[in-house]
Amino acid sequence: MASSRGLAKLKSMQNAFGLLQARFASTAAATQAAPQNKKFAIYRWDPEKPGDKPKLQNYEVDLNECGPMVLDALIKIKNEDDPTLTFRRSCREGICGSCAMNIGGINTLACTCKIDENLGKTTPIYPLPHMYVVKDLVPDMNNFYAQYTSIEPYLKKKSGSEADIGKESYLQSIEDRAKLDGLYECILCACCSTSCPSYWWNSDKYLGPAVLMQVYRWMIDSRDDYTAERMAFMEDSFSVYRCHTIMNCTKTCPKGLNPGLAIGEIKKMMAKYNAKESLAAISH
Ligand code: SF4
Ligand code: SF4
Ligand code: FES
Repeated sequence: MASSRGLAKLKSMQNAFGLLQARFASTAAATQAAPQNKKFAIYRWDPEKPGDKPKLQNYEVDLNECGPMVLDALIKIKNEDDPTLTFRRSCREGICGSCAMNIGGINTLACTCKIDENLGKTTPIYPLPHMYVVKDLVPDMNNFYAQYTSIEPYLKKKSGSEADIGKESYLQSIEDRAKLDGLYECILCACCSTSCPSYWWNSDKYLGPAVLMQVYRWMIDSRDDYTAERMAFMEDSFSVYRCHTIMNCTKTCPKGLNPGLAIGEIKKMMAKYNAKESLAAISH
Protein backbone atom coordinates (compact mmCIF):
# COMPACT_ATOMS: atom_id res chain seq x y z
CA MET A 1 0.00 0.00 0.00
CA ALA A 2 2.74 2.41 1.11
CA SER A 3 4.88 1.58 -1.93
CA SER A 4 2.00 2.15 -4.39
CA ARG A 5 1.45 5.59 -2.77
CA GLY A 6 5.21 6.27 -3.15
CA LEU A 7 5.02 5.23 -6.82
CA ALA A 8 2.08 7.60 -7.42
CA LYS A 9 4.02 10.45 -5.77
CA LEU A 10 7.09 9.73 -7.89
CA LYS A 11 4.93 9.71 -11.01
CA SER A 12 3.35 13.06 -10.19
CA MET A 13 6.83 14.55 -9.54
CA GLN A 14 7.97 13.22 -12.91
CA ASN A 15 4.92 14.84 -14.56
CA ALA A 16 5.64 18.19 -12.89
CA PHE A 17 9.29 18.01 -13.94
CA GLY A 18 8.22 17.15 -17.50
CA LEU A 19 5.89 20.19 -17.52
CA LEU A 20 8.69 22.45 -16.29
CA GLN A 21 11.06 21.12 -18.95
CA ALA A 22 8.44 21.75 -21.63
CA ARG A 23 7.90 25.31 -20.34
CA PHE A 24 11.65 26.06 -20.35
CA ALA A 25 11.95 24.58 -23.84
CA SER A 26 9.08 26.70 -25.19
CA THR A 27 10.51 29.86 -23.50
CA ALA A 28 13.90 29.13 -25.04
CA ALA A 29 12.29 28.57 -28.44
CA ALA A 30 10.33 31.84 -28.15
CA THR A 31 13.54 33.64 -27.13
CA GLN A 32 15.39 32.27 -30.10
CA ALA A 33 12.50 33.08 -32.38
CA ALA A 34 12.30 36.75 -31.41
CA PRO A 35 15.62 38.51 -30.80
CA GLN A 36 15.25 41.87 -29.07
CA ASN A 37 17.96 43.78 -30.87
CA LYS A 38 18.78 47.11 -29.26
CA LYS A 39 21.09 49.65 -30.88
CA PHE A 40 23.72 51.68 -29.02
CA ALA A 41 25.70 54.50 -30.60
CA ILE A 42 28.93 54.75 -28.59
CA TYR A 43 31.55 57.50 -28.61
CA ARG A 44 34.90 56.19 -29.80
CA TRP A 45 38.30 57.84 -29.87
CA ASP A 46 41.69 56.19 -29.71
CA PRO A 47 44.65 58.51 -29.01
CA GLU A 48 47.05 55.78 -30.09
CA LYS A 49 45.71 55.80 -33.68
CA PRO A 50 47.46 58.73 -35.37
CA GLY A 51 44.92 61.19 -36.80
CA ASP A 52 41.93 59.37 -35.28
CA LYS A 53 38.88 61.64 -35.01
CA PRO A 54 36.13 61.06 -32.42
CA LYS A 55 33.10 59.26 -33.88
CA LEU A 56 29.96 57.37 -32.87
CA GLN A 57 30.09 53.63 -33.50
CA ASN A 58 26.91 51.55 -33.65
CA TYR A 59 26.52 48.23 -31.85
CA GLU A 60 23.56 45.87 -31.56
CA VAL A 61 22.80 43.81 -28.49
CA ASP A 62 20.10 41.12 -28.19
CA LEU A 63 18.38 42.07 -24.94
CA ASN A 64 17.27 38.45 -24.45
CA GLU A 65 20.89 37.58 -23.87
CA CYS A 66 21.92 40.59 -21.84
CA GLY A 67 21.48 41.83 -18.28
CA PRO A 68 19.12 44.76 -17.68
CA MET A 69 21.64 47.58 -17.18
CA VAL A 70 23.64 49.66 -19.65
CA LEU A 71 26.86 48.37 -18.07
CA ASP A 72 25.71 44.80 -18.90
CA ALA A 73 25.38 45.82 -22.55
CA LEU A 74 28.81 47.49 -22.58
CA ILE A 75 30.44 44.42 -21.04
CA LYS A 76 28.66 42.15 -23.53
CA ILE A 77 29.83 44.29 -26.46
CA LYS A 78 33.40 44.28 -25.13
CA ASN A 79 33.43 40.53 -24.42
CA GLU A 80 31.73 39.31 -27.57
CA ASP A 81 31.91 41.98 -30.23
CA ASP A 82 34.67 44.55 -29.82
CA PRO A 83 37.41 44.11 -27.18
CA THR A 84 38.83 47.55 -28.06
CA LEU A 85 35.82 49.36 -26.53
CA THR A 86 37.16 51.10 -23.42
CA PHE A 87 35.29 52.18 -20.30
CA ARG A 88 35.77 52.21 -16.53
CA ARG A 89 33.81 50.06 -14.12
CA SER A 90 34.44 48.21 -10.91
CA CYS A 91 31.68 47.51 -8.38
CA ARG A 92 28.66 47.25 -10.75
CA GLU A 93 26.38 48.37 -7.95
CA GLY A 94 26.56 52.16 -7.76
CA ILE A 95 29.28 52.35 -5.11
CA CYS A 96 32.61 53.08 -6.81
CA GLY A 97 31.43 55.83 -9.18
CA SER A 98 33.81 54.74 -11.92
CA CYS A 99 31.21 53.93 -14.61
CA ALA A 100 29.83 57.50 -14.74
CA MET A 101 29.04 58.52 -18.33
CA ASN A 102 26.41 60.33 -20.39
CA ILE A 103 23.68 57.88 -21.40
CA GLY A 104 20.77 59.08 -23.55
CA GLY A 105 21.69 62.69 -22.71
CA ILE A 106 21.88 62.20 -18.94
CA ASN A 107 24.98 61.92 -16.73
CA THR A 108 24.54 58.75 -14.73
CA LEU A 109 26.08 55.44 -13.68
CA ALA A 110 26.03 52.75 -16.37
CA CYS A 111 25.64 50.02 -13.75
CA THR A 112 22.44 51.42 -12.24
CA CYS A 113 20.93 52.78 -15.48
CA LYS A 114 18.34 50.45 -17.02
CA ILE A 115 18.55 49.86 -20.75
CA ASP A 116 15.74 51.72 -22.57
CA GLU A 117 13.82 48.78 -24.05
CA ASN A 118 12.38 50.82 -26.92
CA LEU A 119 14.01 48.89 -29.78
CA GLY A 120 13.16 51.62 -32.27
CA LYS A 121 15.36 54.08 -30.42
CA THR A 122 19.16 54.09 -30.50
CA THR A 123 20.72 54.90 -27.13
CA PRO A 124 23.69 57.27 -27.46
CA ILE A 125 26.52 56.88 -24.93
CA TYR A 126 29.22 59.54 -24.47
CA PRO A 127 31.90 60.16 -21.85
CA LEU A 128 31.06 62.71 -19.12
CA PRO A 129 30.66 66.06 -20.89
CA HIS A 130 33.27 68.82 -21.08
CA MET A 131 36.08 66.64 -19.78
CA TYR A 132 39.27 65.75 -21.62
CA VAL A 133 38.98 62.19 -22.91
CA VAL A 134 41.62 59.57 -22.22
CA LYS A 135 40.03 57.02 -24.58
CA ASP A 136 36.44 56.17 -25.67
CA LEU A 137 34.24 56.52 -22.55
CA VAL A 138 37.09 57.22 -20.12
CA PRO A 139 37.29 60.87 -19.00
CA ASP A 140 40.41 62.47 -17.53
CA MET A 141 39.57 62.95 -13.83
CA ASN A 142 42.88 64.57 -12.81
CA ASN A 143 41.52 68.12 -12.42
CA PHE A 144 38.49 66.83 -10.49
CA TYR A 145 40.67 64.85 -8.07
CA ALA A 146 43.14 67.74 -7.67
CA GLN A 147 40.22 70.00 -6.71
CA TYR A 148 39.01 67.40 -4.23
CA THR A 149 42.51 67.17 -2.73
CA SER A 150 42.69 70.98 -2.47
CA ILE A 151 39.81 71.13 0.04
CA GLU A 152 41.59 68.78 2.46
CA PRO A 153 38.65 66.40 2.74
CA TYR A 154 39.45 64.94 6.14
CA LEU A 155 39.03 65.74 9.82
CA LYS A 156 41.36 68.52 11.03
CA LYS A 157 41.94 69.28 14.72
CA LYS A 158 43.64 72.25 16.36
CA SER A 159 44.29 70.55 19.69
CA GLY A 160 46.70 67.65 20.12
CA SER A 161 49.81 66.77 18.18
CA GLU A 162 50.31 64.79 14.97
CA ALA A 163 51.41 61.86 17.12
CA ASP A 164 48.00 61.82 18.87
CA ILE A 165 46.05 61.34 15.63
CA GLY A 166 44.16 58.07 15.60
CA LYS A 167 44.69 57.34 19.30
CA GLU A 168 41.14 58.10 20.38
CA SER A 169 37.65 58.44 18.88
CA TYR A 170 36.17 61.92 18.56
CA LEU A 171 32.63 61.58 19.84
CA GLN A 172 29.66 63.25 18.20
CA SER A 173 26.03 63.60 19.31
CA ILE A 174 23.34 61.73 17.39
CA GLU A 175 21.98 65.11 16.20
CA ASP A 176 25.37 66.28 14.90
CA ARG A 177 25.96 62.96 13.18
CA ALA A 178 22.53 63.25 11.48
CA LYS A 179 23.60 66.55 9.88
CA LEU A 180 26.02 64.59 7.69
CA ASP A 181 23.26 62.43 6.16
CA GLY A 182 22.77 63.20 2.48
CA LEU A 183 26.39 64.41 2.25
CA TYR A 184 28.68 61.55 3.21
CA GLU A 185 27.00 59.18 0.72
CA CYS A 186 28.57 60.97 -2.25
CA ILE A 187 30.61 58.52 -4.34
CA LEU A 188 32.53 61.27 -6.23
CA CYS A 189 31.30 60.06 -9.60
CA ALA A 190 31.41 63.65 -10.97
CA CYS A 191 28.03 63.31 -12.72
CA CYS A 192 26.91 66.54 -11.03
CA SER A 193 30.02 68.64 -11.70
CA THR A 194 30.10 67.64 -15.37
CA SER A 195 26.40 68.54 -15.80
CA CYS A 196 26.98 72.07 -14.47
CA PRO A 197 27.36 74.81 -17.13
CA SER A 198 29.41 76.93 -14.72
CA TYR A 199 31.82 74.03 -14.26
CA TRP A 200 32.04 73.46 -18.03
CA TRP A 201 33.33 77.00 -18.57
CA ASN A 202 35.37 77.51 -15.39
CA SER A 203 36.51 74.10 -14.18
CA ASP A 204 40.02 75.50 -13.57
CA LYS A 205 38.75 77.94 -10.91
CA TYR A 206 35.22 76.93 -9.89
CA LEU A 207 35.24 73.92 -7.53
CA GLY A 208 31.97 72.47 -8.85
CA PRO A 209 29.07 70.85 -6.97
CA ALA A 210 30.68 67.51 -6.03
CA VAL A 211 33.72 69.07 -4.39
CA LEU A 212 31.67 71.87 -2.81
CA MET A 213 29.31 69.38 -1.22
CA GLN A 214 32.33 67.72 0.38
CA VAL A 215 33.69 71.04 1.66
CA TYR A 216 30.28 71.61 3.23
CA ARG A 217 30.34 68.09 4.73
CA TRP A 218 33.54 69.06 6.64
CA MET A 219 32.41 72.62 7.39
CA ILE A 220 29.45 71.33 9.39
CA ASP A 221 31.14 68.35 11.00
CA SER A 222 31.00 69.10 14.74
CA ARG A 223 34.39 67.41 15.25
CA ASP A 224 36.30 69.55 12.72
CA ASP A 225 38.10 72.70 13.94
CA TYR A 226 38.83 74.35 10.58
CA THR A 227 35.44 75.73 9.43
CA ALA A 228 36.70 79.34 9.20
CA GLU A 229 39.85 78.32 7.30
CA ARG A 230 37.79 76.20 4.92
CA MET A 231 35.61 79.24 4.18
CA ALA A 232 38.62 81.55 3.82
CA PHE A 233 40.06 79.13 1.24
CA MET A 234 36.97 79.68 -0.95
CA GLU A 235 36.71 83.45 -0.43
CA ASP A 236 37.12 84.54 -4.07
CA SER A 237 34.72 85.15 -6.93
CA PHE A 238 35.14 81.70 -8.53
CA SER A 239 35.47 78.84 -6.01
CA VAL A 240 31.85 78.98 -4.80
CA TYR A 241 30.20 81.99 -6.38
CA ARG A 242 30.23 80.66 -9.96
CA CYS A 243 27.23 78.56 -8.88
CA HIS A 244 24.14 80.25 -10.33
CA THR A 245 21.61 77.82 -8.80
CA ILE A 246 20.74 76.20 -12.15
CA MET A 247 20.35 72.89 -10.23
CA ASN A 248 21.43 70.54 -13.06
CA CYS A 249 23.67 68.98 -10.42
CA THR A 250 20.85 67.92 -8.11
CA LYS A 251 18.70 66.76 -11.02
CA THR A 252 21.34 64.39 -12.34
CA CYS A 253 22.85 62.92 -9.16
CA PRO A 254 22.44 59.11 -9.49
CA LYS A 255 22.56 58.76 -5.68
CA GLY A 256 19.64 61.18 -5.16
CA LEU A 257 21.80 63.74 -3.31
CA ASN A 258 21.36 67.50 -3.38
CA PRO A 259 24.66 69.31 -4.03
CA GLY A 260 22.76 72.46 -5.10
CA LEU A 261 21.27 72.75 -1.61
CA ALA A 262 24.69 72.22 0.01
CA ILE A 263 26.14 75.06 -2.08
CA GLY A 264 23.25 77.32 -0.98
CA GLU A 265 24.10 76.51 2.65
CA ILE A 266 27.79 77.29 2.06
CA LYS A 267 26.80 80.68 0.62
CA LYS A 268 24.68 81.41 3.71
CA MET A 269 27.51 80.39 6.06
CA MET A 270 30.00 82.48 4.12
CA ALA A 271 27.71 85.53 4.19
CA LYS A 272 27.57 85.25 8.01
CA TYR A 273 31.30 84.60 8.16
CA ASN A 274 31.98 87.70 6.03
CA ALA A 275 29.70 89.80 8.23
CA LYS A 276 31.50 88.55 11.36
CA GLU A 277 34.95 89.18 9.82
CA SER A 278 33.87 92.72 8.83
CA LEU A 279 32.55 93.43 12.34
CA ALA A 280 35.80 92.16 13.83
CA ALA A 281 37.78 94.42 11.48
CA ILE A 282 35.65 97.48 12.40
CA SER A 283 35.96 96.89 16.15
CA HIS A 284 39.80 96.75 15.97
S1 SF4 B 1 23.23 74.67 -8.86
FE1 SF4 B 1 25.26 75.51 -9.06
S2 SF4 B 1 26.55 73.73 -9.07
FE2 SF4 B 1 24.49 72.99 -9.48
S3 SF4 B 1 24.37 72.94 -11.72
FE3 SF4 B 1 23.67 74.88 -11.02
S4 SF4 B 1 25.39 76.25 -11.16
FE4 SF4 B 1 26.15 74.18 -11.19
S1 SF4 C 1 26.82 64.51 -5.46
FE1 SF4 C 1 25.94 62.80 -6.60
S2 SF4 C 1 26.48 63.20 -8.74
FE2 SF4 C 1 27.79 64.47 -7.49
S3 SF4 C 1 29.67 63.30 -7.27
FE3 SF4 C 1 28.36 62.88 -5.48
S4 SF4 C 1 27.21 61.06 -6.02
FE4 SF4 C 1 28.07 61.85 -7.92
S1 FES D 1 30.65 50.19 -11.60
FE1 FES D 1 30.84 51.16 -9.64
S2 FES D 1 29.36 52.72 -9.71
FE2 FES D 1 29.09 51.68 -11.60
